[in-house]
Amino acid sequence: MVLIKRFILFTISVSLCVSAENNGTFPKDFLFGAASSSYQVEGAWNEDGKGENIWDRMTHAHPESIMNRDNGDVACDSYHKYKEDVSIAADLGLKHYRFSISWTRILPSGYDNYVNQKGILYYQNLIEEILKHKMIPVATIYHWDLPQSLQDIGGWTNPLLVNHFVNYARIVIKNFKNVGYWITINEPKQVCVRGYGAGDFAPGIKGSGIANYLCAYLIAKCHAATYHMYKDEFPHYKAKMSITLDGEWSEPASNKKKDVEAAERRNQFEFGLYANPILNGDWPEVVIDRIAERSALENYSESRLPIFTREEIDYINGTFDFLGFNTYWTLLVANAKEASIKSSSYKNDVRAVITKDPKWKLGSNGNTIVPWGVRKMLQWIQKTYNNPDIFITECGVSDDGTSLDDDDRISFYTDYLDAILDAMYIDGMRIFGFTAWSLMDNFEWTGGYSYHFGLYHVNFSDPQRTRTPKKSTIFFRKLAKTHRIPQV
Ligand code: NOJ
Repeated sequence: MVLIKRFILFTISVSLCVSAENNGTFPKDFLFGAASSSYQVEGAWNEDGKGENIWDRMTHAHPESIMNRDNGDVACDSYHKYKEDVSIAADLGLKHYRFSISWTRILPSGYDNYVNQKGILYYQNLIEEILKHKMIPVATIYHWDLPQSLQDIGGWTNPLLVNHFVNYARIVIKNFKNVGYWITINEPKQVCVRGYGAGDFAPGIKGSGIANYLCAYLIAKCHAATYHMYKDEFPHYKAKMSITLDGEWSEPASNKKKDVEAAERRNQFEFGLYANPILNGDWPEVVIDRIAERSALENYSESRLPIFTREEIDYINGTFDFLGFNTYWTLLVANAKEASIKSSSYKNDVRAVITKDPKWKLGSNGNTIVPWGVRKMLQWIQKTYNNPDIFITECGVSDDGTSLDDDDRISFYTDYLDAILDAMYIDGMRIFGFTAWSLMDNFEWTGGYSYHFGLYHVNFSDPQRTRTPKKSTIFFRKLAKTHRIPQV
């Protein structure tokens, strides 16, 4: 009997030991890289034939909506300094550099009637430079800078946008053969909920509860149409294609059933709404039911959530070769009472009270720093979408930019990477790359130049936009070289 007990105890402790540790090492072929996006770094907003996009319009027409009235007119001046950007990325020993393509640099009018060769040349040069430095170019086709001309006809609420997007994507794909991974659209939730719901992001539409769902519906169709076009028309291309979704973990504020349900509901609204059509087919059930219920309470004759046809569900389902995943933060979620039925909004649909645990550390922009939240989000993705291959296309933290000794960034990456290793080794997730946001400080949307996410500091008052390595570059270089989390 004692022997049996001892054996059981031994087995438990061995298995606990095995399952409580990762081996601290990323696989040899794991990709470490850094990211940027066109509007946030390029500048040259009206040079060489580039047309106006919605962020040009918003920052110029409503400068008061951006901290310090900043804008991306010059940004990091990467349009002129791209060689330096690529060389500082290569200096970190990175395997990939993620950038995005500015639609109006390629098609100044937004439409495909005129292709701007100078725009094509800029990205061809950038891609060649990345390859020359033995890195993989990871290209995002759309990172929020919609042509203003297309916004003038409704932007992401006009069903015709799907065709215009595919026409643009085709030109891009045809001209940039050497891209290693394609991301169709970056973070559709931000595009829809902030651009067409709250309206604090360009194009500034306040259409919460209606326009944000129309946007999500069109983005799903647009992503799928682009994926199908790519597979049909470019069968000889090897690069994999997907979409990038941002996952902010909703942790139940208590063990109460209602709070646990509210957290699950919020995860489905915030992530599932964009992921489910592509990875499982159709909207998440809880989202369909909840918006239908609330729409009925508000006296609508039909749900405010557009319905996919059977044909659309099948067309969109499975249009991914991996999942692009951006991860930053976690929130606490409790159930909320039903709000007054006098107004429709995304918030009233989600019906949740959102808070932050005061014990959590924060980045300078208020994002919580919760490494275990990332692991939980990854576990949720694993369970909900049948363990897809995952490329972490962004992860990072902001500081106030006052010091190059960014120890907080180093501990952020140390803890998040450790949680990711747990997800890989203990939970069995198939994660094949990690991308720092960002290579360098840049235009942080409505935060202007006040929030610094870079591994390199950029001096925005210097016309040269000088890049200076922060302490975290030492950390990242060691990480990329050894594939182990450096102890610094
Ligand atoms: C995600 C977005 O893709 C990027 O543009 C932004 O700067 C970072 N999050 C940081 O907020």
